Amino acid sequence: MKYILITGGAGFIGSNLANFYASNYKIIVIDDLSMGNLTNLTQSDNILFIKGDVTDSDFMLNILSDYSFEYIFHLAAIASVADSIERPVETHQVNFESVLNLLELIRKYQGNLKKLVFSSSAAVYGDEPTFPKKEESAICPLTPYAIDKFAAERYVVDYYHLYDIPTAAVRFFNVYGINQNPQSPYSGVISILVDRYKKLKDGQPEVFTMFGDGSQSRDFVYIDDVVQALSLVAEKDDSLGNVYNIGTGTSTSLNELVEIADTILNVKLPVSYLPERSGDIKHSIADISKVKELGYKSAFSVNDGLLNYINHEFASYGKDKK
Ligand code: NAD
Ligand code: UD1
Repeated sequence: MKYILITGGAGFIGSNLANFYASNYKIIVIDDLSMGNLTNLTQSDNILFIKGDVTDSDFMLNILSDYSFEYIFHLAAIASVADSIERPVETHQVNFESVLNLLELIRKYQGNLKKLVFSSSAAVYGDEPTFPKKEESAICPLTPYAIDKFAAERYVVDYYHLYDIPTAAVRFFNVYGINQNPQSPYSGVISILVDRYKKLKDGQPEVFTMFGDGSQSRDFVYIDDVVQALSLVAEKDDSLGNVYNIGTGTSTSLNELVEIADTILNVKLPVSYLPERSGDIKHSIADISKVKELGYKSAFSVNDGLLNYINHEFASYGKDKK
Protein backbone atom coordinates (compact mmCIF):
# COMPACT_ATOMS: atom_id res chain seq x y z
CA MET A 1 0.00 0.00 0.00
CA LYS A 2 1.11 3.56 -0.62
CA TYR A 3 1.93 6.07 2.11
CA ILE A 4 0.75 9.57 2.91
CA LEU A 5 2.31 11.83 5.55
CA ILE A 6 0.05 14.35 7.31
CA THR A 7 1.77 16.73 9.70
CA GLY A 8 -0.67 18.23 12.18
CA GLY A 9 -2.83 15.21 11.33
CA ALA A 10 -4.50 14.99 14.74
CA GLY A 11 -5.77 18.55 14.33
CA PHE A 12 -8.94 19.79 12.73
CA ILE A 13 -8.23 19.74 8.99
CA GLY A 14 -5.53 17.06 9.22
CA SER A 15 -7.72 14.51 11.01
CA ASN A 16 -10.56 14.92 8.52
CA LEU A 17 -8.05 14.38 5.71
CA ALA A 18 -6.50 11.33 7.42
CA ASN A 19 -9.93 9.78 7.95
CA PHE A 20 -10.81 10.45 4.30
CA TYR A 21 -7.68 8.77 2.91
CA ALA A 22 -7.50 5.88 5.42
CA SER A 23 -9.43 3.43 3.26
CA ASN A 24 -6.92 3.59 0.40
CA TYR A 25 -3.58 4.56 1.91
CA LYS A 26 -1.36 4.00 4.92
CA ILE A 27 -1.37 7.32 6.73
CA ILE A 28 1.47 8.48 8.95
CA VAL A 29 0.12 11.20 11.23
CA ILE A 30 2.56 13.33 13.16
CA ASP A 31 1.40 15.86 15.71
CA ASP A 32 2.62 17.25 19.04
CA LEU A 33 -1.00 17.29 20.30
CA SER A 34 -0.75 20.96 21.32
CA MET A 35 -4.13 21.53 19.64
CA GLY A 36 -4.86 18.16 18.07
CA ASN A 37 -6.51 15.21 19.73
CA LEU A 38 -6.16 11.48 19.08
CA THR A 39 -9.91 11.00 19.34
CA ASN A 40 -10.24 12.96 16.08
CA LEU A 41 -8.74 10.01 14.20
CA THR A 42 -10.94 7.03 13.33
CA GLN A 43 -9.76 3.63 14.55
CA SER A 44 -8.01 2.14 11.54
CA ASP A 45 -5.05 -0.16 10.96
CA ASN A 46 -4.13 2.21 8.17
CA ILE A 47 -3.49 5.20 10.44
CA LEU A 48 -0.22 5.25 12.36
CA PHE A 49 0.08 8.11 14.85
CA ILE A 50 3.57 9.25 15.85
CA LYS A 51 3.81 11.97 18.49
CA GLY A 52 6.46 14.52 17.64
CA ASP A 53 7.34 18.11 16.94
CA VAL A 54 7.83 19.29 13.35
CA THR A 55 10.50 21.74 14.56
CA ASP A 56 12.60 18.81 15.85
CA SER A 57 14.91 18.21 12.89
CA ASP A 58 16.15 14.78 14.10
CA PHE A 59 12.60 13.56 14.51
CA MET A 60 11.66 14.79 11.04
CA LEU A 61 14.77 13.29 9.50
CA ASN A 62 13.84 9.88 10.92
CA ILE A 63 10.34 10.05 9.46
CA LEU A 64 11.42 11.30 6.04
CA SER A 65 14.28 8.82 5.73
CA ASP A 66 12.26 5.80 6.99
CA TYR A 67 9.26 6.04 4.65
CA SER A 68 8.68 6.79 1.00
CA PHE A 69 5.56 8.92 0.59
CA GLU A 70 3.26 9.44 -2.36
CA TYR A 71 1.77 12.62 -0.87
CA ILE A 72 2.79 14.87 2.00
CA PHE A 73 0.35 17.39 3.50
CA HIS A 74 2.12 19.88 5.75
CA LEU A 75 -0.67 21.15 7.99
CA ALA A 76 1.11 21.42 11.35
CA ALA A 77 1.15 25.05 12.42
CA ILE A 78 0.10 27.39 15.15
CA ALA A 79 -3.07 28.33 13.33
CA SER A 80 -4.03 31.38 15.38
CA VAL A 81 -3.34 34.83 13.97
CA ALA A 82 -3.78 36.37 17.44
CA ASP A 83 -1.36 33.87 19.03
CA SER A 84 1.33 34.81 16.47
CA ILE A 85 1.07 38.42 17.63
CA GLU A 86 1.57 37.29 21.26
CA ARG A 87 4.41 34.85 20.44
CA PRO A 88 6.07 35.79 17.14
CA VAL A 89 9.31 33.87 17.74
CA GLU A 90 7.74 30.56 18.82
CA THR A 91 5.14 30.63 16.05
CA HIS A 92 7.84 31.44 13.46
CA GLN A 93 9.67 28.20 14.33
CA VAL A 94 6.57 26.13 13.60
CA ASN A 95 4.98 28.17 10.83
CA PHE A 96 8.11 28.91 8.81
CA GLU A 97 11.29 27.07 9.89
CA SER A 98 9.61 23.65 9.86
CA VAL A 99 8.63 24.17 6.22
CA LEU A 100 12.13 24.95 4.98
CA ASN A 101 13.51 21.99 6.92
CA LEU A 102 10.84 19.72 5.42
CA LEU A 103 11.62 20.91 1.89
CA GLU A 104 15.29 20.06 2.35
CA LEU A 105 14.45 16.61 3.72
CA ILE A 106 12.16 15.99 0.75
CA ARG A 107 14.99 17.02 -1.58
CA LYS A 108 17.26 14.43 0.02
CA TYR A 109 14.97 11.51 0.74
CA GLN A 110 11.67 11.66 -1.15
CA GLY A 111 12.49 10.86 -4.77
CA ASN A 112 9.11 9.14 -5.32
CA LEU A 113 6.95 11.94 -3.95
CA LYS A 114 4.05 12.96 -6.19
CA LYS A 115 3.08 16.13 -4.30
CA LEU A 116 3.82 18.18 -1.20
CA VAL A 117 0.74 20.27 -0.39
CA PHE A 118 1.40 23.19 1.95
CA SER A 119 -1.38 24.91 3.88
CA SER A 120 -1.06 28.65 3.48
CA SER A 121 -3.76 31.13 4.38
CA ALA A 122 -6.05 33.88 3.13
CA ALA A 123 -4.36 35.96 5.84
CA VAL A 124 -1.59 36.70 3.27
CA TYR A 125 -3.96 39.15 1.52
CA GLY A 126 -4.29 41.32 4.63
CA ASP A 127 -6.63 44.28 4.58
CA GLU A 128 -6.11 45.51 1.01
CA PRO A 129 -9.71 46.41 0.09
CA THR A 130 -10.17 44.78 -3.35
CA PHE A 131 -12.60 41.85 -3.39
CA PRO A 132 -12.91 38.99 -4.11
CA LYS A 133 -9.32 37.88 -3.60
CA LYS A 134 -7.68 36.24 -6.59
CA GLU A 135 -4.42 34.35 -6.23
CA GLU A 136 -2.62 37.19 -8.00
CA SER A 137 -4.24 39.93 -5.83
CA ALA A 138 -1.95 42.19 -3.80
CA ILE A 139 -0.26 40.45 -0.88
CA CYS A 140 -0.25 42.47 2.32
CA PRO A 141 0.54 40.30 5.35
CA LEU A 142 -0.26 42.17 8.59
CA THR A 143 0.81 39.68 11.25
CA PRO A 144 3.68 37.27 12.01
CA TYR A 145 1.32 34.41 11.06
CA ALA A 146 0.57 35.88 7.65
CA ILE A 147 4.21 36.82 6.97
CA ASP A 148 5.35 33.28 7.81
CA LYS A 149 2.62 31.70 5.68
CA PHE A 150 3.52 33.83 2.67
CA ALA A 151 7.26 33.27 3.00
CA ALA A 152 6.79 29.52 3.45
CA GLU A 153 4.39 29.37 0.51
CA ARG A 154 6.96 31.07 -1.74
CA TYR A 155 9.63 28.59 -0.71
CA VAL A 156 7.28 25.68 -1.38
CA VAL A 157 6.33 26.89 -4.86
CA ASP A 158 9.87 27.93 -5.76
CA TYR A 159 11.27 24.54 -4.76
CA TYR A 160 9.26 23.21 -7.69
CA HIS A 161 10.77 25.74 -10.07
CA LEU A 162 14.31 25.56 -8.66
CA TYR A 163 14.71 21.87 -7.81
CA ASP A 164 11.78 20.14 -9.53
CA ILE A 165 10.30 19.08 -6.18
CA PRO A 166 6.56 18.44 -6.84
CA THR A 167 4.75 21.02 -4.73
CA ALA A 168 1.58 23.11 -4.50
CA ALA A 169 0.13 25.45 -1.88
CA VAL A 170 -3.42 26.21 -0.79
CA ARG A 171 -4.66 29.41 0.80
CA PHE A 172 -7.50 28.33 3.05
CA PHE A 173 -10.12 30.92 3.89
CA ASN A 174 -12.01 30.30 7.17
CA VAL A 175 -12.49 26.57 7.59
CA TYR A 176 -15.03 25.19 10.08
CA GLY A 177 -16.64 21.88 11.01
CA ILE A 178 -16.28 18.58 12.80
CA ASN A 179 -13.10 18.09 14.93
CA GLN A 180 -12.32 21.79 15.27
CA ASN A 181 -11.04 22.38 18.80
CA PRO A 182 -12.94 25.18 20.60
CA GLN A 183 -10.89 25.08 23.80
CA SER A 184 -8.37 27.86 23.16
CA PRO A 185 -9.38 31.55 23.29
CA TYR A 186 -7.68 31.65 19.88
CA SER A 187 -9.77 28.85 18.35
CA GLY A 188 -11.71 29.39 15.12
CA VAL A 189 -14.78 31.53 15.76
CA ILE A 190 -17.39 28.99 14.61
CA SER A 191 -16.03 26.30 16.95
CA ILE A 192 -16.27 28.78 19.85
CA LEU A 193 -19.80 29.79 18.82
CA VAL A 194 -21.03 26.18 18.65
CA ASP A 195 -19.47 25.49 22.04
CA ARG A 196 -21.42 28.45 23.51
CA TYR A 197 -24.67 27.13 22.01
CA LYS A 198 -24.05 23.73 23.61
CA LYS A 199 -23.59 25.40 27.01
CA LEU A 200 -26.72 27.45 26.49
CA LYS A 201 -28.78 24.35 25.65
CA ASP A 202 -27.30 22.68 28.72
CA GLY A 203 -28.66 25.45 30.96
CA GLN A 204 -25.18 26.86 31.69
CA PRO A 205 -25.02 29.84 29.36
CA GLU A 206 -21.65 31.44 28.73
CA VAL A 207 -21.51 34.74 26.92
CA PHE A 208 -20.01 34.78 23.41
CA THR A 209 -17.47 37.59 23.10
CA MET A 210 -17.65 39.50 19.84
CA PHE A 211 -14.42 41.35 19.02
CA GLY A 212 -15.67 44.46 17.23
CA ASP A 213 -19.26 45.11 16.19
CA GLY A 214 -19.79 41.76 14.41
CA SER A 215 -19.90 43.33 10.96
CA GLN A 216 -16.55 41.76 10.00
CA SER A 217 -17.04 39.03 7.43
CA ARG A 218 -15.24 35.89 6.30
CA ASP A 219 -15.52 33.29 3.54
CA PHE A 220 -16.46 30.37 5.81
CA VAL A 221 -15.76 27.05 4.08
CA TYR A 222 -16.98 23.70 5.38
CA ILE A 223 -14.43 20.99 6.12
CA ASP A 224 -15.83 18.50 3.57
CA ASP A 225 -15.24 21.04 0.79
CA VAL A 226 -11.70 21.55 2.06
CA VAL A 227 -10.93 17.81 2.05
CA GLN A 228 -12.24 17.63 -1.52
CA ALA A 229 -10.01 20.56 -2.53
CA LEU A 230 -6.92 19.08 -0.85
CA SER A 231 -7.35 15.75 -2.59
CA LEU A 232 -7.71 17.48 -5.98
CA VAL A 233 -4.66 19.68 -5.47
CA ALA A 234 -2.64 16.63 -4.41
CA GLU A 235 -3.77 14.30 -7.16
CA LYS A 236 -3.96 16.58 -10.23
CA ASP A 237 -0.72 17.20 -12.14
CA ASP A 238 -1.94 20.65 -13.20
CA SER A 239 -1.47 21.93 -9.66
CA LEU A 240 2.33 21.57 -9.76
CA GLY A 241 4.03 24.81 -8.70
CA ASN A 242 0.66 26.53 -8.18
CA VAL A 243 -1.19 28.29 -5.35
CA TYR A 244 -4.96 27.97 -4.88
CA ASN A 245 -7.61 29.84 -2.91
CA ILE A 246 -9.86 27.41 -1.03
CA GLY A 247 -13.18 28.98 -0.05
CA THR A 248 -16.77 29.20 -1.24
CA GLY A 249 -16.86 32.54 -3.04
CA THR A 250 -19.38 34.00 -0.58
CA SER A 251 -18.89 35.78 2.72
CA THR A 252 -20.88 36.00 5.94
CA SER A 253 -20.58 38.47 8.82
CA LEU A 254 -20.32 37.30 12.42
CA ASN A 255 -23.69 38.92 13.16
CA GLU A 256 -25.23 36.87 10.32
CA LEU A 257 -23.61 33.69 11.67
CA VAL A 258 -25.18 34.22 15.08
CA GLU A 259 -28.55 34.90 13.44
CA ILE A 260 -28.36 31.67 11.38
CA ALA A 261 -27.36 29.55 14.38
CA ASP A 262 -30.00 31.19 16.61
CA THR A 263 -32.59 30.21 14.00
CA ILE A 264 -31.33 26.62 13.61
CA LEU A 265 -31.40 26.08 17.37
CA ASN A 266 -34.34 28.35 18.15
CA VAL A 267 -32.51 30.20 20.93
CA LYS A 268 -30.95 33.63 21.51
CA LEU A 269 -27.22 33.43 22.22
CA PRO A 270 -26.01 36.00 24.80
CA VAL A 271 -23.34 38.17 23.14
CA SER A 272 -21.01 40.78 24.67
CA TYR A 273 -18.85 43.19 22.70
CA LEU A 274 -15.15 44.05 23.11
CA PRO A 275 -12.92 46.21 20.88
CA GLU A 276 -11.68 44.51 17.73
CA ARG A 277 -8.47 42.45 17.92
CA SER A 278 -5.26 44.02 16.69
CA GLY A 279 -4.20 42.64 13.31
CA ASP A 280 -7.78 41.56 12.62
CA ILE A 281 -8.91 41.73 9.00
CA LYS A 282 -12.27 43.38 8.34
CA HIS A 283 -13.51 41.45 5.28
CA SER A 284 -12.38 38.43 3.34
CA ILE A 285 -13.84 36.62 0.33
CA ALA A 286 -12.26 34.24 -2.17
CA ASP A 287 -12.35 34.06 -5.93
CA ILE A 288 -12.27 30.27 -6.40
CA SER A 289 -12.14 30.10 -10.23
CA LYS A 290 -8.63 28.66 -10.23
CA VAL A 291 -9.35 25.65 -7.99
CA LYS A 292 -12.62 25.08 -9.89
CA GLU A 293 -10.44 24.34 -12.95
CA LEU A 294 -9.17 21.28 -11.05
CA GLY A 295 -12.79 20.09 -10.66
CA TYR A 296 -13.55 21.63 -7.24
CA LYS A 297 -17.14 22.40 -6.43
CA SER A 298 -18.10 24.04 -3.14
CA ALA A 299 -21.06 21.94 -2.01
CA PHE A 300 -21.87 23.59 1.35
CA SER A 301 -23.43 27.00 1.87
CA VAL A 302 -22.78 28.40 5.34
CA ASN A 303 -26.36 27.41 6.31
CA ASP A 304 -25.82 23.79 5.20
CA GLY A 305 -22.39 23.50 6.78
CA LEU A 306 -23.50 25.03 10.08
CA LEU A 307 -26.52 22.75 10.18
CA ASN A 308 -24.32 19.66 9.61
CA TYR A 309 -21.80 20.77 12.22
CA ILE A 310 -24.45 21.64 14.81
CA ASN A 311 -26.31 18.36 14.23
CA HIS A 312 -23.09 16.41 14.67
CA GLU A 313 -22.03 18.29 17.80
CA PHE A 314 -25.40 18.01 19.47
CA ALA A 315 -25.72 14.30 18.61
CA SER A 316 -22.32 13.42 20.12
CA TYR A 317 -22.99 15.74 23.07
CA GLY A 318 -26.20 13.85 23.82
CA LYS A 319 -24.24 10.57 23.82
CA ASP A 320 -21.54 11.97 26.18
CA LYS A 321 -24.24 12.90 28.66
CA LYS A 322 -25.93 9.51 28.89
P1 NAD B 1 -5.27 22.82 14.12
O1 NAD B 1 -4.65 23.64 15.20
O2 NAD B 1 -6.48 22.02 14.45
O3 NAD B 1 -4.20 21.84 13.46
C1 NAD B 1 -2.82 22.06 13.50
C2 NAD B 1 -2.22 20.84 14.16
O4 NAD B 1 -0.81 21.02 14.24
C3 NAD B 1 -2.71 20.63 15.61
O5 NAD B 1 -3.18 19.32 15.76
C4 NAD B 1 -1.49 20.87 16.46
O6 NAD B 1 -1.48 20.04 17.62
C5 NAD B 1 -0.37 20.53 15.48
N1 NAD B 1 0.89 21.20 15.80
C6 NAD B 1 1.08 22.49 16.19
N2 NAD B 1 2.38 22.71 16.39
C7 NAD B 1 3.02 21.54 16.11
C8 NAD B 1 4.38 21.14 16.14
N3 NAD B 1 5.35 21.99 16.48
N4 NAD B 1 4.69 19.88 15.79
C9 NAD B 1 3.72 18.97 15.44
N5 NAD B 1 2.41 19.31 15.41
C10 NAD B 1 2.08 20.58 15.73
O7 NAD B 1 -5.55 23.83 12.92
P2 NAD B 1 -6.26 23.58 11.52
O8 NAD B 1 -7.38 24.53 11.46
O9 NAD B 1 -6.48 22.14 11.30
O10 NAD B 1 -5.13 24.13 10.53
C11 NAD B 1 -4.36 23.26 9.71
C12 NAD B 1 -3.48 24.12 8.82
O11 NAD B 1 -4.28 24.94 7.99
C13 NAD B 1 -2.55 25.08 9.58
O12 NAD B 1 -1.34 25.15 8.86
C14 NAD B 1 -3.28 26.39 9.52
O13 NAD B 1 -2.38 27.50 9.62
C15 NAD B 1 -3.90 26.30 8.14
N6 NAD B 1 -5.08 27.14 7.98
C16 NAD B 1 -6.22 26.88 8.70
C17 NAD B 1 -7.34 27.69 8.50
C18 NAD B 1 -8.62 27.46 9.26
O14 NAD B 1 -9.55 28.25 9.06
N7 NAD B 1 -8.74 26.45 10.09
C19 NAD B 1 -7.29 28.73 7.58
C20 NAD B 1 -6.09 28.98 6.90
C21 NAD B 1 -5.00 28.17 7.08
C1 UD1 C 1 -8.68 32.16 10.56
C2 UD1 C 1 -7.78 31.00 11.00
C3 UD1 C 1 -6.40 31.21 10.46
C4 UD1 C 1 -6.51 31.40 8.96
C5 UD1 C 1 -7.46 32.53 8.56
C6 UD1 C 1 -7.68 32.57 7.05
C7 UD1 C 1 -8.13 29.83 13.13
C8 UD1 C 1 -7.98 29.87 14.60
N1 UD1 C 1 -7.71 30.95 12.45
O1 UD1 C 1 -8.20 33.40 11.12
O2 UD1 C 1 -5.58 30.06 10.73
O3 UD1 C 1 -5.25 31.60 8.40
O4 UD1 C 1 -8.73 32.26 9.15
O5 UD1 C 1 -8.66 33.49 6.72
O6 UD1 C 1 -8.60 28.87 12.56
N2 UD1 C 1 -13.82 36.41 16.93
C9 UD1 C 1 -14.75 36.85 17.85
N3 UD1 C 1 -14.92 36.14 19.00
C10 UD1 C 1 -14.21 35.01 19.27
C11 UD1 C 1 -13.27 34.56 18.33
C12 UD1 C 1 -13.09 35.29 17.15
O7 UD1 C 1 -15.39 37.90 17.64
O8 UD1 C 1 -14.42 34.40 20.35
C13 UD1 C 1 -13.64 37.18 15.68
C14 UD1 C 1 -12.21 37.56 15.36
O9 UD1 C 1 -11.83 38.75 16.01
C15 UD1 C 1 -12.29 37.72 13.84
C16 UD1 C 1 -13.31 36.65 13.44
O10 UD1 C 1 -14.04 36.32 14.61
O11 UD1 C 1 -12.79 38.98 13.50
C17 UD1 C 1 -12.68 35.40 12.90
O12 UD1 C 1 -11.67 34.98 13.83
P1 UD1 C 1 -10.94 33.57 13.72
O13 UD1 C 1 -11.92 32.49 13.67
O14 UD1 C 1 -9.87 33.54 14.76
O15 UD1 C 1 -10.36 33.64 12.24
P2 UD1 C 1 -9.26 34.54 11.50
O16 UD1 C 1 -8.56 35.49 12.41
O17 UD1 C 1 -9.95 35.07 10.30
